[in-house]
Formats: sequence, structure tokens, C-alpha cells
Amino acid sequence: MDANEFRDLGHEVVELLSNYLDHIEEKRVFPDVEPRTLHAFFSQSLPENPSPPQDVLAELEQKLLPYCTHVGHPGYMGLITPSPNPIGVIADFICSALNQNVGAYSIGPSAVALERRVVRWLTDLCGYDAKAGGNLTSGGMMANFIGLKVGRDAVTHDQAQHDGIRERWAVYASEERHVSIDKAVDCVGLGRNALRALPTDSDFQVRLDALENAIAQDKKDGVRPMCIVGVFGTTNTGAVDNIRELRRIADREHMWLHVDAAYGGGMLLSHEWQMRNRGLELADSITIDPHKWFYAPLDAGAVLVKDERRLTASFGIKPSYLTDELDQADERYQYYVHGFEQSRRFRSLKVWMSFKRYGTRQIGDWIDNNVRQAKYLYALAEKHPDFEAASRPPMSAICIRFTGASLNEADSKKLHAAVAQRVEQSGRFWMSTTELKGKTWFRINPVNFRTREEHMRELFEMLEKECHAFVRGDVVSRASD
Ligand SMILES: Cc1ncc(COP(=O)(O)O)c(C=O)c1O
Repeated sequence: MDANEFRDLGHEVVELLSNYLDHIEEKRVFPDVEPRTLHAFFSQSLPENPSPPQDVLAELEQKLLPYCTHVGHPGYMGLITPSPNPIGVIADFICSALNQNVGAYSIGPSAVALERRVVRWLTDLCGYDAKAGGNLTSGGMMANFIGLKVGRDAVTHDQAQHDGIRERWAVYASEERHVSIDKAVDCVGLGRNALRALPTDSDFQVRLDALENAIAQDKKDGVRPMCIVGVFGTTNTGAVDNIRELRRIADREHMWLHVDAAYGGGMLLSHEWQMRNRGLELADSITIDPHKWFYAPLDAGAVLVKDERRLTASFGIKPSYLTDELDQADERYQYYVHGFEQSRRFRSLKVWMSFKRYGTRQIGDWIDNNVRQAKYLYALAEKHPDFEAASRPPMSAICIRFTGASLNEADSKKLHAAVAQRVEQSGRFWMSTTELKGKTWFRINPVNFRTREEHMRELFEMLEKECHAFVRGDVVSRASD
């Protein structure tokens, strides 16, 4: 492909995507298509011969675009994937064109400098000082893993990374933690049984008495407390654990405190949030995901560490083929030495461009709108005799359930699954279901700058109608097939 062809195709793509974004609200949020049809679309064998670029693009227009989940549609209120902000989309285009590999200074000097600035913006936002550092990651899953690995190494005085785990250790987190914590506990070599899943109170915050009891029991059994994981914005309801108390307990027990703010970190940009001062800066390490509530396109997660030297202690192996002999002054920052990944996309560009273009003011406005929308839905559910809400939403995630028929929990689960499916089939909205304290709920979570209050009203009316239809037997649940 020569420069002219690239230019022509690029213009066509920009035209296509501009059109897509202009009309996104008219689309079905989730496609009405069978998985087998999609697999058939893409069933050709590896192409041997080249095709004209227009044909390649036309194939995508026919087979890919119409069958996407349109997360930018205002009715998308599902798993935490935002409507991507448009300059972030452009940033990813630039990122791929330059193909800087931010793992090593020699493959992207200016990109490394830019990424370091983005990390600094994030550490400042979280209230860390100049000693802090971090890495952009593929997402919260990887950031939580790195946080736990750094914590494990710090608590074992850098022994576990050489000798493996020799003693029995435990990690403590709320029952409302994200599953990435379970995976991380496994991946750092402790085994999933080393995770103590602690009950939460009526606001879904981890119960401190349960934490104290679990630590005491472990110590009695010869198990050493390693790490507490606090949640700053749970996936289901946006609950924030009492980070100050977790810090106090972690200090007393010489434990690491990792805080998962993958979702809730967005609230740091809110102009209206009353709970800002929750002690996030007291964590030893933090997960925060710009690709969630900073509205950056995937992928852009981040792990931040209060003392950057801990990152280097955990990952600072320098193989000869990566040594940069030209770095006499030690100024060429090597992300591969200070983090887990080596080859790394230039993820920070979209975060940098988003902040430059919109500023914290605009992004904070979007966040406050989403929170207001969740509170509006909460008010609708609370005043309706046939619905209840799990909690008053502190963020934009809200769980509500239908209570307008005396169903046992198994039938209630069927109802919520069937109604969620009807909502998906409507093409107007997408939301998920979840379980909280043994009950099934609709989980609705606008992380979307196109969503408006009227969408929450329409969704609630649809839920009301569909729940009653299910009870009357008007809905045949494919979920129970
Ligand atoms: C609280 C929390 N932590 C971690 C994650 C995992 O993040 P990612 O999907 O970016 O890997 C999520 C995802 O929703 C989350 O809600």
C-alpha cells in the first residue's frame, strides 16, 4: 500500500466512522443475529491472494459493523465498557501508525516521556506524591495482578520472587471484589484458597469485624496475613470500602494494602462527589482504569504504586539484549525494567489526548451526569411498589429487582434473566443481571456520555412492562430452555 492508497483509504474510514457515530442512536444496541451466522461470515481459510483495500473495507461494513455491540449507543448500560470518546479513537489510529513500543526507551523516546506524564497525572489524581510511579496496563485484571505481585514481593522481602512461596499466606478482600483478585491470588502462587472472601454490610462495604476475625483465625492456624485488597467502587453497586481502617489494620499486621479503583477511580474527576476524601492515597498500590470511567477506548488500565522502587524490585531484570549502553546518565526510562510487560502499546496517548481535548472539567461533567442518571433510576425504583434497589448508588452502577410477585429465588432468577433477554432483543438497551446477597438483580451501569435521563425512564418502563408480562406468562424465556 503506497502513501496515496493509505490516504484514500484513511479518508474513507474516517467518513465511515463519522457516519457510524452520527447515527449510532438509531442502531440496535445488540445485534439480532445467531452466533452461528457470525461464525459462518468469518469461516474462510487464510487468504493467499491480496484483495483491493475497498473490498476489505466493504466486507467489514457488511459483516462486522452491523453486528457489533454498540457500546457508544446511549442505551448501552452493561458491563463497564464506556462510550469511547472520539479523540481517543483518533489517538489509537495515531498510536498504531507510529507503533512505538513503550516497553523500551530506544523504541519510543517521546512516547515514554508522554506516558510518564500520564502516569504522573494519575498518581496526582489519586493523591500520591512524587515517589509514586506506575504502568499503563491492558486493564484492571492485569493491574490487580501486578499490584498483588508487588505486594507479595514487598511483604516477603523480595524472597518469594526467587524462592517461591514457602509459607502459608492469606489475602483478604470483600465478597464484592472483582474476579481479577481471585485470579491474581492464584497467579502470584498463593492458590485461590488463600483468598478470604469477607462479607459486606448493608452498603456492600467490607465488614471490618469479619476482616479482624479472619486475620485472627489465620494467625492462630499458622497462616500469615499478606495483603488486604480494598475496593474503591465495586462492580455491582459502586461501594467504597473504608480505606482508612483497612490501612490501620494493614499497618498493624505489616500487610500490603492494594486498592482496586478500576471503576470507581473515575469518581475522582466528579465535581459533585461528597466522598472524595476516602483515603485512596493510603494504599500501597492502586488499580485505576482510564478505559472505564475516563471514557478512553480499550485498552488502557493502570497500576500505580506509592513507592515506585517497589515496581523495580519486582520486575527489574535486565537481560543483555535489552541493556541500553547509551544510557550513561540513567535518564532513559525503561518500562520493561519497572513493570511486567515488555512490548507495550502506546496506550497513554489516548488518555493524554482525551485530557488535553476535554479537560477534567468536561470528563467530570460526563461522570456527574451518569451518577445523576443512576440516582434517577434509583428514585423510580424506590417509589414503585414492585421494585427495590440494592442500595442508593454512590456511583453510576445500580442494581434493582422486581418484587411485584411472590416468587421463590429460583423463579425470580428466571424472571430477571428472561427480562434481561427481552431488553436485549428490544435493541433499545443492554444491561446485565447479577447476584447480591443471594438474590438476582438487574445491573444497570451508564458509563456513557450519550446517555440521558429519558433513557433511564424508558428503560425502567420497559422493565416494568416486561416483568409483569413474565409474571402473566406472556414471555417465553429462552434462558430456561
Ligand atoms: C472493580 C473492578 N476491578 C477490576 C476489573 C477488571 O478490569 P478490566 O476489565 O479492565 O480487566 C473490573 C471490570 O469491570 C472491575 O469492575
